[in-house]
Amino acid sequence: MTVAPETEREMDELCAEVRACRRCALAETRRLAVPGEGPLDAEVMLIGEAPGVNEDRQGRPFVGPAGAFLEELLAEAGLGRPEVYICNVLKCRPPGNRDPLPGEIEACGGYLGAQLRLIDPLLVVTLGRYSMSRFFPNQAISRIHGRAREVRGRLVVPMYHPAAALHQQRLRGVIVDDFRTLPGLLEGARAARAESAPAAAGEAPARQMNLFGQS
Ligand code: URA
Repeated sequence: MTVAPETEREMDELCAEVRACRRCALAETRRLAVPGEGPLDAEVMLIGEAPGVNEDRQGRPFVGPAGAFLEELLAEAGLGRPEVYICNVLKCRPPGNRDPLPGEIEACGGYLGAQLRLIDPLLVVTLGRYSMSRFFPNQAISRIHGRAREVRGRLVVPMYHPAAALHQQRLRGVIVDDFRTLPGLLEGARAARAESAPAAAGEAPARQMNLFGQS
């Protein structure tokens, strides 16, 4: 799929805005903001929680041990890292890797909304509780992990966070099994989009919508 120059420009502007962002106090303690990375025509978008120490140093998402495991999980799904878009709920590292605060999630929310609209993925994979909550508020990850549902017109599948499996052996098999369902989900999502394409031909594509609307 070719990516519209307008989409590329908007994403470049968005990433530049994230790198210079001072919307919350994390700007005081971060080294580098981590906007996200991947092809703009990615079919799969993975959303983690927040940068850790390695990400904060490199300005790239999932480059530490959790990232290495994420790449293994993607391989289980027949996917390579270069073909997926990866970002986080928070674009800056919370000091000491503490949990994100509600005000930080709120301050960063527009960036994630804009990324969802610009990438317009077939399938969103949330990694961990904070990412899940954006689409499935007040749900327990232990109950809904691995079950894809349509949320505001997008197919979203909540998964455990890869770091959780690194620390809890019993979750490793669960996450691997959940990732192995991705090829089937993607196939279904492709078929659904192909079916709806003729009907949507006269409508404005999602990526032409407002940069900071809710998604
Ligand atoms: N954990 C996350 O949630 N995101 C990263 O980028 C790295 C670790």
